Order: sequence, then C-alpha cells, then structure tokens
Amino acid sequence: MLTVQGLRSGYGHGLVLFDIDLTVEPGSIVAVLGRNGAGKTTLLHTIQGLIRPTAGSVTWEGRELVGLPSHKVARAGVALVPQGRRVFAPLSVEDNLRVRVSSGAWTTDRIWELFPSLAARRAIRAGALSGGEQQMLALARALLTSPQLLLMDEPSEGLAPAVVDHLSDIILELRQTGLAVVLVEQNLGVALDIADRVAVMVRGRMMHRSTPDELRADPVLVNQLLGAA
Ligand SMILES: Nc1ncnc2c1ncn2[C@@H]1O[C@H](COP(=O)(O)OP(=O)(O)OP(=O)(O)O)[C@@H](O)[C@H]1O
Ligand SMILES: [Mg+2]
Repeated sequence: MLTVQGLRSGYGHGLVLFDIDLTVEPGSIVAVLGRNGAGKTTLLHTIQGLIRPTAGSVTWEGRELVGLPSHKVARAGVALVPQGRRVFAPLSVEDNLRVRVSSGAWTTDRIWELFPSLAARRAIRAGALSGGEQQMLALARALLTSPQLLLMDEPSEGLAPAVVDHLSDIILELRQTGLAVVLVEQNLGVALDIADRVAVMVRGRMMHRSTPDELRADPVLVNQLLGAA
C-alpha cells in the first residue's frame, strides 16, 4: 500500500504541493485529476524521488521513500511512466527496452505478449511509432523494472479515442495481476471508467476524494473542480 501524508513539495522556494494526503491499496487504480498546473506531475515526481519534499512522508509497503534517490525508489517497486512518453526516438523499439531490463517478473517476451503491435515493430525506430505505440513503449519500459506500483502521467494525452480504450484495457489487465496504479489524467472519462477511487487536485491541494460514481453523480462539483476557469 502507498500512503502519502502531509506532503509539501515544489521547486526552489516555491511550494507547489500543500499537505497532500493519498492512499493507494494494492491492486487498485487511483486516478488523480486536476487542471493544467494543479501539481499532478510534481506529485508523481515527488513520490518517485525525483523531487525532495520539504515536509511529509511517502511510504510504500511500510517503508519510507522520502530521502531515497529515484533509482532506489524504483528498486523498491515503484515505476514512473512519464508525461509525454519520453522514449528514445533514435533507438529501435527493442533497444528502448534493453535500457532497463531487470531480473524481476517482467521479461521482454512477456512485453511482446502484452503488446503484439510493439513485437511486430521491434526493429523500427521509436520516433517512427504512432503516439499510442510510443505510450505502450513507455509503459513497457516501466514494466521491465517489475514494479508493484505504477505511476502513470497522463497516458491518454493526445491519443485517439480507440487507442485510449485499448490503453485502458491494458491498465485494467495490469491491475488484475495485482499492480497498483496512480493514474494522473485530464481525461475525466478514462478516470471514471477504470479507477477504483478518484482524487482531484486544485492548485496544489487535494480538494476531493471519492469513488468514480460519486464524482460522476455531481456535475456541478466536477465543473467546480475541473471545469474551464
Ligand atoms: N521545473 C519546474 N520549476 C519550477 N516550477 C515548476 C516546474 N515544473 C512545474 N512547475 C510549476 O509547478 C506547478 C505545477 O506543475 P505540474 O507540472 O506539477 O502540474 P500538472 O498538474 O502536472 O500540469 P499538466 O496537466 O499541465 O501536466 C505549475 O505552476 C508549474 O508552473
Ligand atoms: Mg503534468
């Protein structure tokens, strides 16, 4: 289980996250929603150890992660799929996957099984893949560290609806294997469809937590939290 308590974080002297609390049960998907600039990426980067918080704690399976460098957070079973995919465009699909192979449960063979379209394009330059395939590749790279907790930063951004549906199915399939997921999204539909719990950030604060159905049932609240400014 992931427990974030009283987390404050930011850049230099500027605070971006104010006393964030969040829990994620094993094998569950928690969607974190929020407008542009709400602090979603900052939250994921702080959990992953890329940014050091000024206060608060992040525990995973009872272990304090605050203060650990990001490679140790990764070794503890937490993997980030970064916003904007960040694959190595000049390298082939296969070489992108050679970057971080671990000795855990995930092997490249298992990746090819989960993503047949990547298997078919394994020799192609990652930069020549479609946006959806690049997202799958970014996810594959994270899976090869054999994580128990996946931090996904706006995976549906810029993808066509059919591709988003496919990606949602894959995330649900991963949850079936026991993986916990923090899914940062601006796509409310995706979040409400696949998450077990939803949390909404507004200007660096966690302003709402509920089940997807509770949020769906309150369009006025949705508009207040996420509507156009
Ligand atoms: N490297 C940085 N240095 C200074 N300020 C930053 C940096 N990265 C983000 N910020 C600021 O922190 C705040 C939160 O940004 P963050 O990227 O976490 O938001 P977000 O919710 O992920 O937004 P988006 O939906 O656009 O990805 C914003 O005001 C942003 O300008
Ligand atoms: Mg972001």
